[in-house]
Amino acid sequence: MHWYEDDGFWSDFSGTMFSERRRADVESLVTDSPLLDFPAGSRVLDLCCGPGLYLVPLARRGCEVTGVDLSAAMLERADAACAAAGADVRLVRADMLTHVEPETYDVVLNLFTSFGYFDDPLDNERVLRNAHDSLVPGGRLLVDVMGKEVLAGWIGRPQLVELDGGAYVVQRDTVLDSWTRLRTDWTLVRDGEARESSITSFLYSAAELRALFESAGFTDVRCYGGFDGGPYDNHSKRLIVTGTRPEGTS
Ligand SMILES: C[S@@+](CC[C@H](N)C(=O)[O-])C[C@H]1O[C@@H](n2cnc3c(N)ncnc32)[C@H](O)[C@@H]1O
Repeated sequence: MHWYEDDGFWSDFSGTMFSERRRADVESLVTDSPLLDFPAGSRVLDLCCGPGLYLVPLARRGCEVTGVDLSAAMLERADAACAAAGADVRLVRADMLTHVEPETYDVVLNLFTSFGYFDDPLDNERVLRNAHDSLVPGGRLLVDVMGKEVLAGWIGRPQLVELDGGAYVVQRDTVLDSWTRLRTDWTLVRDGEARESSITSFLYSAAELRALFESAGFTDVRCYGGFDGGPYDNHSKRLIVTGTRPEGTS
C-alpha cells in the first residue's frame, strides 16, 4: 500500500492537518481570497477534499460543489461536516490518478499540498491532465502546495505541534534526490504511545509547476505566493498555481 492510501494515516494525523483553527481560517479564506472568488452557480470540484474544510464555505457562497477523495474515513468526515452545516455537496470516492468527468467543472481545486504524491512524475502530470479534461473550456485549475523555494527557508528545523488532550506531533523533513522529493517523518505521541509515519512526495519550484501546467495543456498560467493573490517571492508561505483550459480544446 502507498502511504497516501492509508486511511489510518489521514485519521491519526488529522489533528494537525485539519484542526478547528484551520477550519475557521479556511472559512475566512473562502470569503476574502480573490483567488477563490467564484460566482454563485460555479461548478467546483475540490479534488482531494479531505474532511471537507473548503466544501462547506464554497457551498455557502452558492457554488455547486463536488468533493473527491480516496479516503473513506475522510469522506465520512466531509459528509458529517456538510450535513451539520446543511450544505448540499456531492461526494465521490475516487483516485485523482484516474478520476475524470469530461467538461463538467468551471473550477478544479487541489488544496493544502495534495499534489505530487505519485512516485512516477508522469502520474503527477496525469492528475493535471485529468483536471484539464474535467474542466469546461475556459475553466480554471488552482493547485496550492508548499513551494520548493519556501521550504528551503525553514527546512531542517523539526516542528512540534501540540494537540488537544495532551497529544503532540513531531514533524521532520528530509530533502531527497537533489531537491526533487521530500520525505516527512511524523511522530504522533498520545497517551504515552508513539505512532510513526513517513510520507514522500515531489517538490516543485514555481518554474517546475508552471511547466507541468503548460505541458498538461493549460494556458494563462500564473503563480501566487498566497491566497491574497500576492506575488510568489521571498515573503511567500505557499505556492499557488492557476491555469486555464483553453477554448476549443477537447
Ligand atoms: C493534505 S490532505 C488535504 C485535504 C484538503 N484538500 C484540505 O485542504 O484540507 C490530502 C488529501 O488527499 C487525499 N488523497 C491522497 N491520495 C489521493 C488520491 N490518490 N486520490 C484522491 N485523494 C487522495 C487524502 O485522503 C487526503 O484527504
